[in-house]
Amino acid sequence: MEILRTVAELRAAVARSTLRAFVPTMGNLHEGHLDLVRQARARVPSDQGLVIASIFVNRLQFGPKEDFDTYPRTFERDCEALELAGCDAVFAPEERELYPEPQAFTVQPPAAIANILEGEHRPGFFTGVATVVHKLFNVVQPQVALFGKKDYQQLLVIRHMVRQMSLPIEIVGVETRRAADGLALSSRNGYLRPEDRQEAGALSAALRQLAQDTRRAIDAGDFNALPNIEAAAMAVLRDRGWRPDYLTVRRRADLLPPASGDEALVVLGAAKLGTTRLIDNFEY
Ligand code: PAF
Repeated sequence: MEILRTVAELRAAVARSTLRAFVPTMGNLHEGHLDLVRQARARVPSDQGLVIASIFVNRLQFGPKEDFDTYPRTFERDCEALELAGCDAVFAPEERELYPEPQAFTVQPPAAIANILEGEHRPGFFTGVATVVHKLFNVVQPQVALFGKKDYQQLLVIRHMVRQMSLPIEIVGVETRRAADGLALSSRNGYLRPEDRQEAGALSAALRQLAQDTRRAIDAGDFNALPNIEAAAMAVLRDRGWRPDYLTVRRRADLLPPASGDEALVVLGAAKLGTTRLIDNFEY
């Protein structure tokens, strides 16, 4: 597997290939990331093109009080895992390579999808994500790019960006990998203290319960009950010592609250346990 540190090295690799599948990451990889690489490899066999991953902890998407400085950097281990999963090349630039000057041009996703849920609790997050992903797309020029469904709103923002900016890239969403107790795999799970790790499966359990309860209300046409059902789900977590930001049911297509006739739904949640903020979701 090639390790590419500069945009020039990456462009040279791109020029040698006609087909590229791309997996952007911030490193500290787990099986969920490796699933993306394996699916990329299945879509682009070795004799047909390259699977390229990136490892770049993107300062632009971190708030001033967030964990940019402490975000785990595990480059050697990540490279070994990427190679085993079938990756051909990893683009791992220094910060000054991708941002040689302050990034004054940014990609601003529309408020309707970027300022709700995660965007409400992490102002500027989706601008940071969209900007770096747009830059990475410009240099990698992939035909297909793969993202985890665990970051459901991020996936939606990127799908909108690609459509509205007419980028010729197929965006593939890959199912969330979970631990035996239901906890969605995440690079930030490593922050959990042992006692918090014991408890962490409760977020996915609360979301499953919320999905069941909202489905019952929706089937009965009782949309007015949804805010109370969501509040009850948050109260369950609060009683267990969590600090939930939101647990909610939305339409998959635009993350607006469901109305009569909406079938494709998703429950999404974000909550803090100790000092660790976890997010999760289920389509249903
Ligand atoms: O999901 C992530 O790891 C990041 O948000 C991404 C897409 C690599 C952009 O920095």
